[in-house]
Amino acid sequence: MSRFKAAIIGTGHIAEQNHVPALKALREEVEIIAVCSRDLTKARAFADKHGIALAFDNTADMYNSDLKPNLIINCTANNLHHQFTMQALENDCHVICEKPPGMNAREAREMADLAKQKGKILAYNFQRRQTPEYALMAKYLEEGKFGEIYHIKATYLRRRGIPGWGNFTNKSIQGGGALIDLGVHVLDLALGMLNYQKPDRIIGNTYDFIGKAGGKGLKGSWDPAKFEVEDACFAHISFPYNASISLSSSFALNMQEAETVNLEVFGSKAGAVLHPLSIFTEVEGELADIHFPHMDKTDNQLLNTKAFLDACSGKQSNICNAEQGAILQEIVEKIYQSAIPSDGAP
Ligand SMILES: NC(=O)c1ccc[n+]([C@@H]2O[C@H](COP(=O)([O-])OP(=O)(O)OC[C@H]3O[C@@H](n4cnc5c(N)ncnc54)[C@H](O)[C@@H]3O)[C@@H](O)[C@H]2O)c1
Repeated sequence: MSRFKAAIIGTGHIAEQNHVPALKALREEVEIIAVCSRDLTKARAFADKHGIALAFDNTADMYNSDLKPNLIINCTANNLHHQFTMQALENDCHVICEKPPGMNAREAREMADLAKQKGKILAYNFQRRQTPEYALMAKYLEEGKFGEIYHIKATYLRRRGIPGWGNFTNKSIQGGGALIDLGVHVLDLALGMLNYQKPDRIIGNTYDFIGKAGGKGLKGSWDPAKFEVEDACFAHISFPYNASISLSSSFALNMQEAETVNLEVFGSKAGAVLHPLSIFTEVEGELADIHFPHMDKTDNQLLNTKAFLDACSGKQSNICNAEQGAILQEIVEKIYQSAIPSDGAP
């Protein structure tokens, strides 16, 4: 089979740190033929650094070039996910788009609908799905060993992790704060444990006390005057068959640890914590805790890119697909909507 011809749009942090190394490691299946950024000098420098032939400063020229890509890695900022993904699908490319799946539910729905209409794979880069811990939990689920999973605690909390760089506090570029940037990762994991069912009741609260006040930063210092998003978000997501997710995310929260990312799953037969992976169950009538001190470390991005390529080749894959992205983004939107105080005050 011939190799996929990939183009990367957006040459920032995630393109450089995650996608280029993964694509290069999978060179037998995919070749990076082009990069596109707003600035041609930057695109050319990125291309030269990584041995990529073509550099563009606009995507229209790229799609009109003789060597057309058939696979797009959309590494642009959140407010450009929809635009560049729709254009890529229109140009008959498979797409892996960075998280989140667009700025809102409408964008995610439109992207999923167009992917379906075009018969192309659209996937989102939720690479935390690929940890060996989550893979084991998913297998345990598949084998029915949790019984009925009825509650999940999903947390992505930082004590003072408001990034002092980039667009993280800009609402029109990001679409939101801690929830849309961090919380979505663990929401994807939690929804995966509930077979990506759609919830029927959602209630969320958002806060910006610390973001607006300023203070000590553990990821650079931020400008409180430019803080337009939530620094913390807490949501209760309830499903019609009586299951629930409690989702907590923060850029800043007065808590003990600098950062905690975890999933706690509570089932009728067993429960589990993702990091460090532990399973809590009963064995022969005795309470038993199972630990996994010898799990291998894996390259999650490499595995997620491989899962994307598998999906593009028609193989079984556990990539976050377009429909799942649309469900997730609808939940994110409903959390934000429910967090608006009823008097309309900001
Ligand atoms: N999956 C993850 O764990 C993870 C981690 C970090 C970031 N991300 C996501 O990746 C995306 C990019 O984040 P980043 O940290 O790389 O940001 P970044 O600011 O470093 O890079 C964004 C890139 O988009 C480019 N760009 C902007 N407008 C463009 C245009 N009109 N045409 C072409 N390129 C354009 C910018 O030049 C820049 O190179 C975000 O959506 C973010 O949420 C995901």
